[in-house]
Amino acid sequence: MAKVKSAYVCNDCGSDHPRWQGQCNACGAWNTLTEVRLGAGSKSRNTERLSGYAGAGSSGVQTLAEIDLTEVPRFSSGYNELDRVLGGGVVPGAAILIGGNPGAGKSTLLLQVMCRLSQQMNALYVTGEESLQQVAMRANRLSLPTDKLKMLSETSVEQICMIAEKEKPSIMVIDSIQVMHMADIQSAPGSVAQVRESAAYLTRFAKQNNVAIFMVGHVTKDGTLAGPKVLEHCIDCSVMLDSMGDSRYRTMRSHKNRFGAINELGVFAMTGQGLKEVSNPSAIFLSRGEEPSAGSVVMVVWEGSRPLLVELQALVDQSPLSNPRRVSVGLEQNRLSLLLAVLHRHGGLLMSDQDVYANVVGGVKVAETAADLALLLTMVSSFRDTVLSQELVVFGEVGLSGEIRPVPNGQERLSEAAKHGFKRAIVPKGNAPRQPIEGMEVTAVSKLSEALDAI
Ligand code: TYD
Ligand code: MG
Repeated sequence: MAKVKSAYVCNDCGSDHPRWQGQCNACGAWNTLTEVRLGAGSKSRNTERLSGYAGAGSSGVQTLAEIDLTEVPRFSSGYNELDRVLGGGVVPGAAILIGGNPGAGKSTLLLQVMCRLSQQMNALYVTGEESLQQVAMRANRLSLPTDKLKMLSETSVEQICMIAEKEKPSIMVIDSIQVMHMADIQSAPGSVAQVRESAAYLTRFAKQNNVAIFMVGHVTKDGTLAGPKVLEHCIDCSVMLDSMGDSRYRTMRSHKNRFGAINELGVFAMTGQGLKEVSNPSAIFLSRGEEPSAGSVVMVVWEGSRPLLVELQALVDQSPLSNPRRVSVGLEQNRLSLLLAVLHRHGGLLMSDQDVYANVVGGVKVAETAADLALLLTMVSSFRDTVLSQELVVFGEVGLSGEIRPVPNGQERLSEAAKHGFKRAIVPKGNAPRQPIEGMEVTAVSKLSEALDAI
């Protein structure tokens, strides 16, 4: 009898260990290793996997210059927002993971994409979670074209690939990877071992048959994809669909992309008729109140390849505590402390007896340093209880010596603000536009004191 090999896989991070131990070597978690029987066939599977990955023309060594440079052919998913996040469309043979919380709209989005695409290419939708009837009812309710999309209800990966080999689809959906299982792995569906092997098998299948495969992956309670590290290295793109707070808007971002840039943002809205694209997201993040109030200013963040207008708010208030609170939501806590120090040292404003709260409206997360100047000015506005003009837009990085540093894409940020009717801007000197922008008065500042004077 062939010897059954086993490995011990960490349920949290997915790293392999040759024998059981109490603590994972890689992530340090206790009691997370589970035994995975690889089965007798695993050796041949591994070699097959290697040859599968190597792809066409793997037989000889080439220099970089000899490699064929024809563009990877891509096709549109029918949704501009999704195409942009994927780096300009779907690449045939790509394995794409769509992650998100339950109810984020992964199944809905993929059903809409597949129904549309099935009109021009051979498309197969594999559902392991919902029944065929449920999916059909949803498609009918959304009035999607249903006549050409092939459906399959199956959870065995080997079966799915066998059927797909016969049907020869150009695009496939696996909903979801957590319910898929493979016969020669002896752990339950949804376990790290099953998810990892199923995803690797499907990725190999995608490459060998030139099928683009979308795999749905659920997010666990702590916000990670089940077996995140495990999945990320074998697939080509990992895209997350998140809901912003409890609103109907959904943001989509890629965390890994072998065919394009990451950090592109796509925005969708969940409506009664399924997911709709939001092509002008600035408008939704800017739903400002009628009454202008102190401690609020609009800034322009750069999201992937486009500008986005968001509103920053700050509340500065006398603190009853000996150790006043500094709370930031959507912004980095450390930058808040840093800016308060700069404000004291170079602006002469002491807030050490004040509680400071900072927030980005609409649940957006801003990781850019371009938010510095805007955050600083909102804090001053709230501290002094003076209202900043509603037609003002601000961006720029603040350095530790009180200098205002330029940020990338200044011109595009200003044009976006002008497009939305903003009439004044405070920006770093390095970002001052070469030609004046029509209808916008730009104040270029190089020091903190100049910025404080400008408001
Ligand atoms: P679904 O695609 O099933 O989520 P996932 O596959 O990511 O778990 O989306 C389900 C949610 O979307 C559900 O809470 C209802 C809502 N929804 C709408 O609001 N409008 C619609 O047209 C559809 C189809 C769903
Ligand atoms: Mg679903």
